[in-house]
Amino acid sequence: MEPRFPLAARVGDIAPFHVMEVQTAARALEAAGRSIVHMEIGEPDFPTPGPVLDAARRALADGGIYYTSALGIPELREAIARHYARHFGVEVAPERVIVTAGSSAALLLVFALIVGRDDAVLLSDPAYPCSRHFVRVLEGTPVGIATGPDSRYQLTAGSIGQAWTDRTRAVLIASPSNPTGTQIGPDEMAKIAALCAQRGGHLVVDEIYLGLSYDGEPRSALATTGRYADDLFIVSSFSKYFNMTGWRLGWIVAPERHVRDLEKLAQNLYISPPTVSQRAALACFEPATLEILEARRLAFRARRDFLVPALRALGFGIPVMPTGGFFVYADSSRFDADSRRFCRDVLEGAGVAFTPGIDFGTHRAAAHVRFAYTIEMAKLEDGVGRLARYLEKRPADAAA
Ligand SMILES: Cc1ncc(COP(=O)(O)O)c(C=O)c1O
Repeated sequence: MEPRFPLAARVGDIAPFHVMEVQTAARALEAAGRSIVHMEIGEPDFPTPGPVLDAARRALADGGIYYTSALGIPELREAIARHYARHFGVEVAPERVIVTAGSSAALLLVFALIVGRDDAVLLSDPAYPCSRHFVRVLEGTPVGIATGPDSRYQLTAGSIGQAWTDRTRAVLIASPSNPTGTQIGPDEMAKIAALCAQRGGHLVVDEIYLGLSYDGEPRSALATTGRYADDLFIVSSFSKYFNMTGWRLGWIVAPERHVRDLEKLAQNLYISPPTVSQRAALACFEPATLEILEARRLAFRARRDFLVPALRALGFGIPVMPTGGFFVYADSSRFDADSRRFCRDVLEGAGVAFTPGIDFGTHRAAAHVRFAYTIEMAKLEDGVGRLARYLEKRPADAAA
């Protein structure tokens, strides 16, 4: 018999991930014998670096795969803190570092700490969808602020100040962003941190793509926000730069006064981050691994340098050069006013898969698509060639 009570209202408010639907449709076509170029997938195609796999094998051979501290093993917290000093030129106390089960758990912990019922969290539209869903699951209100090319698809102190209300408790920034690959400049980040402090709200900065920066030295918000840096919540991950998506490992750099409460939340929500993954991740900071990762970063940059001009030449609107991550957010309205239909048609007609803007918010979502350059150059070239041939034949009003 059906239970008498309906499901929790939050479930209805969580949208499915359309990228997964694109992927499922693409895989179905592959199963039917079609060749597909995958530009929808938001994870690096590179395998986990060899030294990390070796460290995992050693951890398994040594045994002792028990729960760890909810904050993570001390050696890894220290290694992450040292990484900030070496890579981003900023001192971070290891006590501020909390190892988590992916940055997904990091975002969940931080929002669980700061978001109460009906509290508002400001974030950009477009943005990574799970962030606003985390806020909703916690009975808060995600408030998307429309962003466009004029602000590099990022929030500004001005747009945040205008959207701020009595209910606002926090601002979430992702830099570089998914889906746009754009970053916030150091001056604007400092202004945003000052504004949040002045209004008494929290600033959460998702830097999971920061290691994959292509133009100039990557700057963590910890290095650009001066006296406000100690109050930031930085969220990061081993998934993208370190090519460890399936290991489910990330971290928070939290204000020291909040570490104890975050520990309590982590203990209760998932006890501890995965033990084998933590021991494996210690090898991420060895010179041999960093060398592999640097070569891969350069490969991503070369792919971006090929893909952006190639898509522009086909007629996609890319007014701002993405400077990090592995995504290109492109205006596709010249081809079709409905990007969901456009993605479906191109998948079926050309065998190229990419993601409709609807996954990332509502602001001009139907006019945009996201390409991921998480495939090797030869496949990217194949994808662009297929698109060119398809678009040449498709009348501009194909979908009218
Ligand atoms: C901006 C952003 N934040 C967080 C995540 C979550 O990643 P993970 O939980 O693998 O660290 C993703 C994943 O795609 C992302 O794009």
